[in-house]
Amino acid sequence: MSSPPRAGIRLTRRRLLSGAASLGATSLLPAPGPARERIESLGALAADKGLLFGASFAVHELDAPHGSQYAQLYEQEVRLLTSELEFKLSTLRPDARTIDFAPADRLLAFAHAHGLPVRGHTLIWNDALPDWIKAIDPRGAGHLLDTHIDAVMTRYKGGVRYWDVVNEPIAPWDRQPGNLRAGPFHSALGEAYISRSFRAAHAADPAARLVLNEAFTETADEQGETFRRSLLALVRRLAADNTPIDAIGLQCHLAHRYRYDFARFTAFIDELASLGYEIHLTELDVDDRFETGSIAERDRRTADLYARFLAAVLPVRAIKVLSLWQLADHTSWLATTPLKGRGTPKPPPRPLVYDASFQKKLAWHAIADAFRAMPPR
Ligand code: XIL
Repeated sequence: MSSPPRAGIRLTRRRLLSGAASLGATSLLPAPGPARERIESLGALAADKGLLFGASFAVHELDAPHGSQYAQLYEQEVRLLTSELEFKLSTLRPDARTIDFAPADRLLAFAHAHGLPVRGHTLIWNDALPDWIKAIDPRGAGHLLDTHIDAVMTRYKGGVRYWDVVNEPIAPWDRQPGNLRAGPFHSALGEAYISRSFRAAHAADPAARLVLNEAFTETADEQGETFRRSLLALVRRLAADNTPIDAIGLQCHLAHRYRYDFARFTAFIDELASLGYEIHLTELDVDDRFETGSIAERDRRTADLYARFLAAVLPVRAIKVLSLWQLADHTSWLATTPLKGRGTPKPPPRPLVYDASFQKKLAWHAIADAFRAMPPR
């Protein structure tokens, strides 16, 4: 379905047409450059169909030599910012006495200056914790959970539209009932830490949209099956308990080395949606670290994986939000996270839609085409 023309496009075109007689025929073509880029942004293409498109954003990138290009890219492409690090317990709570709001304040200031809504990632996660929380006395874990959620959400009330209240509740390898992830909140409170987190979040900011975010649900292998089955069962229990959850977030870190059955994954999304939740695809990227071949071949395979994935899932109208995990290859966690004992990956991974020189890649076009082809929500 083609999207309705936007006012901005009509205006530009009319202006071009009115000047055509004096300027000659070539002036009928829209000029390349920033104005045209804005019209063709992924954020605008998605918005034309009622989908909110965003990406994770890390404030420390603003201090890098490419800081202004980074800022410009987000201004141009996205309609939503997800905090990559700024709201994590590891950033906010370096020790038991401190709450370091400075990075989150900076992210909020950037978002506000550019009129972008924010997804706060994440309030409670039994992973990526500072040592003092890992070692917390179980008798104090519930109090920390309640006061942390209240302090953070109260400070940013009205400024953060979506919260990943609980991240990655499932981890089968921890061998806990329900395949829940082990960790300080879980060991102190059991499964109840999840509904308690959502109730605290709802009390702190009743207007915020609350998300339960999970990884590893996409693959066709046994791990994917286990994650899908366990998450669905957990969501059903939370629904039966009237836990205030608005959306289920599925991270969608795809990788060439995994097997997929996107029809099966789409059926799973449909099942979650039929329980009454919005679906957010929250951290989409494509890991190509173990691919061989030329850059052109790798980029083709990556664009193709994006295309096949999106063609399968985007017909599901319950998907209201889609976020990439960063926009440019060199700022991806895949580029900056060392491989076990081998330093950062070489050659540099190319998981995203812009390259390290901030040039559009094939993957950008694959996503743009998928947005043009999807039904409106
Ligand atoms: C990652 C960040 O991208 C990295 O910079 C950081 O070092 C580790 O965390 N799933 C999540 C995200 O929910 O929080 C993770 O982000 C990526 C996997």
